[in-house]
Amino acid sequence: MKFENFLNKKLSEIRAKNLYRKRVVLSDGIINFSSNDYLGLKDEPSTKQKLCKNIENLSLGSGASTHISGYTKVQEELEKELSFFKESEDCIVVGSGYLANVGLISSITTKEDIIFSDELNHASIIDGIRLSKAKKVIYKHNDIEDLEKKLKENKTDGNIFIVTDGVFSMEGDIASVDKIYKLAEEYDAVLIIDDAHATGIIGEGKGTIFHYGMKPNNRIIQMGTLSKAVGSYGAFICGSKLLIDFLINKMRTAIFTTALSPVQNFISLENLKIIKSHPQRRLDVLEKAKYLYENIKEINFNVKYYGVPIISLITETAEKAIYFRDKLLEKGFFVQAIRPPTVPEGESRLRITVSYNHPYEEIDKLIKAIKEVAK
Ligand SMILES: Cc1ncc(COP(=O)(O)O)c(C=O)c1O
Repeated sequence: MKFENFLNKKLSEIRAKNLYRKRVVLSDGIINFSSNDYLGLKDEPSTKQKLCKNIENLSLGSGASTHISGYTKVQEELEKELSFFKESEDCIVVGSGYLANVGLISSITTKEDIIFSDELNHASIIDGIRLSKAKKVIYKHNDIEDLEKKLKENKTDGNIFIVTDGVFSMEGDIASVDKIYKLAEEYDAVLIIDDAHATGIIGEGKGTIFHYGMKPNNRIIQMGTLSKAVGSYGAFICGSKLLIDFLINKMRTAIFTTALSPVQNFISLENLKIIKSHPQRRLDVLEKAKYLYENIKEINFNVKYYGVPIISLITETAEKAIYFRDKLLEKGFFVQAIRPPTVPEGESRLRITVSYNHPYEEIDKLIKAIKEVAK
């Protein structure tokens, strides 16, 4: 059948480039260094207990979109908590980070507008831009001079947007949002920051602008996820009341999709409270990441670390990344090999992520295993 020939041909091409992907269920006993659960909240016993205590009062599903009848008290409370946490006027919670970026970018832009986007932005931002009718201009990764040059070269009577990851998901570096914001002011642009990996981690857990001592205002849109350091699922957009009102009315990925389950929102809410009340979790994981980096930086690979719990061990080729991953797995550790198209060609890597739940003994064992495989 013609269609099956197409599927087989594409899969063969992927296999030939060592880019074939398989989902794995980790066996018991394998230590996971590939989770975005930086604060160890996805298995938090106190949240599990509270959930058990409250489960009688929580519906298992929301039953409809938020715009029909799926908007629940727990989601309303979560949005209030997030607004307060991010010091913003208002907030909307949506199904996932992917849906947040795709829906936000495509709803607030028109064909008269220009979106300036960092070349390493997450796929969900890229897809949001693809769905938008605005002109897209890609600037070099976190390169302020290149961004300014492109802002000068590209003019419009419409709106200008600059969009960047706060903490870059694969690189682990922090966007120079202080400098980018200055350009946004100068060129009357709106700045969209994806705080998926910054939430709970930098700026005292509140995200990238707070890392730079900045405060929210109506030129800044803060998006974040509940699926990484918050240890739950879902995402949020924080901004002015006017913006959130607009999104409630125009954002298709909030309107035409079923609301998150109250159970999920309950978990997000409880874990968010822990993030606010237990800053030592964040300080602890940052220390652990530094310790891991300090102990592997001398190996014969380029090791990237920028002060967050994401450490990249650059293998360059996909083949080496797979080899490294499989050898570590034999030693009892799971560190996923990240390959194109998730990272640019020639930049395959092991992306090691540290969690509050990793005891130092496990980190020490991983250091030993990495050194042995690197040899
Ligand atoms: C920077 C960034 N933005 C958005 C997302 C999407 O978030 P979610 O997994 O909640 O869809 C991710 C992760 O997957 C991410 O790393």
